[in-house]
Order: sequence, then structure tokens, then C-alpha cells
Amino acid sequence: MQTANKEFVTKEIKYFDGMELLCSSLSHDGALLVVEDNAMTIGWATVGIIWGKPIITVLVRKTRYTYELIERSNHFSVCVPETNTLKEELALCGTQSGRNTNKIKECRFNLIPGKLSKTNIITNCSLFYEARIVHKNEVSPETVNAKIKDNYYSTGHYHSVYYGKIEHCYLKDNSHYKTTSSSSSFHKR
Ligand SMILES: Cc1cc2nc3c(=O)[nH]c(=O)nc-3n(C[C@H](O)[C@H](O)[C@H](O)COP(=O)(O)O)c2cc1C
Repeated sequence: MQTANKEFVTKEIKYFDGMELLCSSLSHDGALLVVEDNAMTIGWATVGIIWGKPIITVLVRKTRYTYELIERSNHFSVCVPETNTLKEELALCGTQSGRNTNKIKECRFNLIPGKLSKTNIITNCSLFYEARIVHKNEVSPETVNAKIKDNYYSTGHYHSVYYGKIEHCYLKDNSHYKTTSSSSSFHKR
């Protein structure tokens, strides 16, 4: 893992201002869920308000190496690439496991400490959510819709759902993504 790059300039945005880029990425090549020093491609996540707090949820099957990592962690980050970038890297991080591949090295990603302690981010992405886990529950075979069960759980490997309170949401300063928010300000870290 590389050390923090003091010149990595970011712009804090409102947690809902990244929704368009996040949802566009999730519905195309994916975004990266980063726990410790491993990155896993995700296609599913939600952002909203629960318990009066801004929350991002991610779904992780128990078979993933990421599951082992997130189970012992209190934090995660979701790193979102600029539209139509990092396609090969997202494919690799969505097919190879961190159990036997150093995906950060393979993808030549720049992994640096995030703003929260024990959270890392990948600076090759554009939009970042850093979250502290406040709750977890399971997708249940008893209560999930029958069609969803057939489509997604025929293997019997169910997802765990992690609820992260969004502590930071920010853009890389040279991101092409435009938000409507005018309250953002640039700063170095
Ligand atoms: C586009 C795409 C979206 C994915 N979304 C998820 C997801 O939301 N949750 C999940 O558990 N796995 C998802 N996967 C599968 C994992 O990324 C894949 O199994 C990965 O190799 C697991 O890495 P790990 O073992 O290092 O955790 C997705 C894969 C792709 C290609």
C-alpha cells in the first residue's frame, strides 16, 4: 500500500450529489468496494437515509474474501470510477479473489489511506464514499421474493447487507462529474 499522497486534492460533496455517477457505474461496469487493502467490484449498493443518518448499503456474499475482511472491519469505502473508465480493472476485481491475487498490484491501483482511520481509497477513481458500519443483516431465504430467490440465490450463497454511515463523500478535483451543489469547497490533505 502506498502512503497518503498529500497532493491528492478532493472536493467534499453532499452524499446525494454523487448518486447519478454511482448509479450509472453500478448499472454498467460496477464500482469498487474497498475493505482493508482489497478491492471487489460491486453492482449493488444503495444510498439514502435511515435512522436520520446518510447511509450507504453494500451486499456481500459470504463466499467472497471481502466478506472475511468486512466481518472484522468497522469501515469500508466505495470508490466509483469516471464513466467508461477502468473497465478491465473492474472486470478483474469482479472475477479474481483477493485470497490468491493482489488485485491492487495487478490493476496498478494507487491505494492510499482515506479520511477515516483504517479506510483506504483508490485514487484512480473519481467519487468516494467512506462509511462506518452501523448495522448488518442477512438476505433471508424465508423472506426474499421467490423470483429474486430463483434468479440470484440458486447456489444457496446469500448476501450479507452492511449499512455504513456515510462520514465522507467527495470527488477528485479533476473529475469530469458535475454536481448541482454549490456548497462544496476544495482542500488538500
Ligand atoms: C459487475 C459486477 C458486479 C458485482 N457485484 C457484486 C456485489 O454487489 N456483491 C458481491 O458479493 N459480489 C459482486 N460481484 C462479484 C465479486 O466482485 C467477485 O466474486 C470478486 O471476485 C470477489 O472478490 P474477493 O474474493 O476479493 O472479495 C460482482 C462482480 C461483477 C463483475
